[in-house]
Amino acid sequence: MKIFDLLIDNIAEHSYGVTDDFFTPNEVKALVVILRQRHEAGVFKTASIGQKSERRVQDKVRGDHILWLDENSIDAEEQAFFLKINTFITYLNQTCYLGLRSFEFHYALYPIGTFYKRHFDRFLHDSGRKMSVICYLNADWQATDGGELVIHLPNAEPVKIAPLGGRLVCFEADKIEHEVLPALRERLSLTGWLRTD
Ligand code: OGA
Ligand code: MN
Repeated sequence: MKIFDLLIDNIAEHSYGVTDDFFTPNEVKALVVILRQRHEAGVFKTASIGQKSERRVQDKVRGDHILWLDENSIDAEEQAFFLKINTFITYLNQTCYLGLRSFEFHYALYPIGTFYKRHFDRFLHDSGRKMSVICYLNADWQATDGGELVIHLPNAEPVKIAPLGGRLVCFEADKIEHEVLPALRERLSLTGWLRTD
């Protein structure tokens, strides 16, 4: 698929890539409906950092609320999303020989004023996360709404990426340090990892 070609070129060259047309505006709308229904049902959790015994809620580090997606969901919009991600995985494996075998995704909702401090996406005892993928679900996001993803590359100026609806950002999970600046409006995304196990 054409949208993946440039994205993959950029990942190969710069360790990260962005495409603005991963979701159509209608797909964004439909996923936001699901996200909001589940959020109102009270099933989102305050995000934590670390795994198992290391796990702790840390709103000084990150303030988002998350809900993991179920690969067996009967929801058509979510199944369409999984299909797209699988197509992306196939492309990545064919072009970059990454050996990706599975994925995990969660919805994320950043309430007004929340952020995620500078970090790498890997756990101490879990090296299965190869690529980080973030799909934004914010229609009409304005420059004044804040909430940018900032990518910190070695020996380069930080890159700021606005969380525009339909946009997908992908980077190497253990190589790219990044952060989320305070969101001045509720900020929605589908965030996850492509795994080698
Ligand atoms: C994360 C993360 C970035 C974003 O969830 O680990 O860094 O732009 N998210 O939402
Ligand atoms: Mn991260």
